[in-house]
Amino acid sequence: MRIKARVLFFSLFCCFCKETFAVNDICDLDARISPIYCTCDNNRGEEVNTVCYVINTTSLKNESDIWSDFGEEYAVISLTFTVMNSKLLFVPQIALRKVSKTLGYLKIEGATLRALPSFAIYGLPQLKEANLDQNEITVLKKESVSNLPKLEKISFAENNITRIAADVFIDLPSLKLLFFNRNSITTIDDYAFRHLHNLEELILTSNQLSRITSKTFVGLTNLTSLDLFSNQLKVIPDYAFESLSKLVELDFTDNKIETIEPFAFKGLENLQRLLLTKNKLTVIAYQIFEDNPRLLHIHLSENGLQTIKGETMYSLRKIDDEAFMIHLKGKQILNSPK
Ligand SMILES: *[C@@H]1O[C@H](CO)[C@@H](O)[C@H](O)[C@H]1NC(C)=O
Ligand SMILES: *[C@@H]1O[C@H](CO)[C@@H](O)[C@H](O)[C@H]1NC(C)=O
Ligand SMILES: *[C@@H]1O[C@H](CO)[C@@H](O)[C@H](O)[C@H]1NC(C)=O
Ligand SMILES: *[C@@H]1O[C@H](CO)[C@@H](O)[C@H](O)[C@H]1NC(C)=O
Repeated sequence: MRIKARVLFFSLFCCFCKETFAVNDICDLDARISPIYCTCDNNRGEEVNTVCYVINTTSLKNESDIWSDFGEEYAVISLTFTVMNSKLLFVPQIALRKVSKTLGYLKIEGATLRALPSFAIYGLPQLKEANLDQNEITVLKKESVSNLPKLEKISFAENNITRIAADVFIDLPSLKLLFFNRNSITTIDDYAFRHLHNLEELILTSNQLSRITSKTFVGLTNLTSLDLFSNQLKVIPDYAFESLSKLVELDFTDNKIETIEPFAFKGLENLQRLLLTKNKLTVIAYQIFEDNPRLLHIHLSENGLQTIKGETMYSLRKIDDEAFMIHLKGKQILNSPK
């Protein structure tokens, strides 16, 4: 652990030093005069984990010189920007470029980013994880998250995103986890995730999504878990998950679902857990589970279901597993349909 506190000869009195001014040590910025204060640990030689507090954004611009100080002396492998009592309106692109060769983890929190511009998080060859929670992001522009060959996880939780457009996520061949919990998403464009062939988990918990189509989730061929907990969905349309043959868990708990179209679950060959608790279902069409031979748990409590027809149970006849269960109205549990 090394936190230096050397006073730099950098002050407001120096007005002609811009040209000759030596590179600042980012691990050694003076909090009294710098708009940013960073701490670094460098247990591992010159590789440092850097945590920066952005404390005064009054005259901080995306082109400010201070961003160029990143990555000059150290191999920054992890970088966090925490914005304190001020408004950071942009992603510090210059800083990211400076550390791009080594950066594996990036976190920005407390910023006021609003529309995330194209190429905001772009071309960082070592980046594995990015956390952009709580930055008041409202829109993700085209290709705003792109060309990140090693990125495995990215989170946009607790922002104010209202819509997920197509072609935001490009060239992310390693992406496995994508989080959008606690936003205000009402719309997901058709084919929005079509480039994410390796995605395994998509979290859309606690949004305002009111509609999905047969094209919303196209391309997510490796997805194993889709979480739509607490949204406003009314209909699960036919063929909504047709390309999701690896999906194991599908969570619709706490929506407004009143209709499940007859071929809604077509193609879900590996589905094991279907969570439909707390919706508005009154009937379940009879052939609905025909294509889901691995179903083990169907949660249907807190709906308006009076009965499950014999035919529906018949479509579950292929399921031959001791653990099979339908959870209905709390205590009422129907076991294996055989
Ligand atoms: C923030 O920076 C501006 C100029 O860049 C300065 O005038 C102001 O006093 C600073 N605010 C604080 C709280 O230090
Ligand atoms: C900085 O922001 C301005 C205005 O938003 C933009 O025109 C410019 O391209 C940005 N510069 C960099 C280096 O990102
Ligand atoms: C933005 O989202 C945050 C976290 O979800 C929330 O607390 C805040 O009220 C939202 N702001 C607006 C303007 O919607
Ligand atoms: C899906 O996942 C498997 C195993 O996890 C992996 O081998 C494969 O490359 C992934 N991608 C696609 C497109 O199937």
